[in-house]
Amino acid sequence: MKRKSLRKPATPRPPRDRPPKKDAGRQVQRVNSIISSAGLTSRRNADNWIKSGRVIVNGRVVTEPGAQAVWGADRIEVDGREIPEPSPRIYLMLNKPFGYICSLKDPQGRPLVTDILEDIPQRVYPVGRLDFDTLGLLLLTTHPRYRVPRTYKVTIAGKITDQALNRLRKGVRLKGGSSGSTKLSPVSLSEKQSVFRMTITQGKSRQVRRMLEAVGHEVIHLIRIGFGMLTLGNLKVGEYRYLETDEIASMKKLVGLV
Ligand code: URA
Repeated sequence: MKRKSLRKPATPRPPRDRPPKKDAGRQVQRVNSIISSAGLTSRRNADNWIKSGRVIVNGRVVTEPGAQAVWGADRIEVDGREIPEPSPRIYLMLNKPFGYICSLKDPQGRPLVTDILEDIPQRVYPVGRLDFDTLGLLLLTTHPRYRVPRTYKVTIAGKITDQALNRLRKGVRLKGGSSGSTKLSPVSLSEKQSVFRMTITQGKSRQVRRMLEAVGHEVIHLIRIGFGMLTLGNLKVGEYRYLETDEIASMKKLVGLV
């Protein structure tokens, strides 16, 4: 069922100086990787498919595990169905609204971030997750795989102490390992509430909320304002846009994004 989007998004537009284009320089790749990049299954399972003779390249059944092909030039079939050519990669930045899930489906039927996207022909995936009740910068792309610093604007009730800030800076112990060190800069601290910016490099589940819990505070508002070199800027909640060419380039430099 297609759900209604929260609001009409800002008109998305491709990067200014050149539109998304097909991957230049088609290259030889392992067939298992092509099958997985095409979203059919994991690389490991693709190996099983190959072993069991379900994969044909240019009319020949390939069964060797390291089989290679050129996606877009060779005809690759799985169970008799051809894998379509690779689609152009796109990168979108969305200001995620409250109340949306960063998965591709939700058993409880809650709204998905991808429901907000209109006129985006490719299937895009959120890079990492923001909680249902977190707002802010969410990168969506056709091929997600990154580990980059993420910056949040965090609001908690009450005044946070210097001691708690220092504990957060050093890193706190969480179920599943240490949070790692954190950059923190206060925005406003009053008796009623504290607002600060916090940059983490790991992406553990509910990491910011759990870190604050570990120092005795509950997060009352959380918005991601930075992801790698990207900043949310004045993108309104529920709006999204294509990344500019220089933003894509800077992300590529930072994380070897393809
Ligand atoms: N940390 C959290 O606790 N929640 C998020 O959504 C993102 C980071």
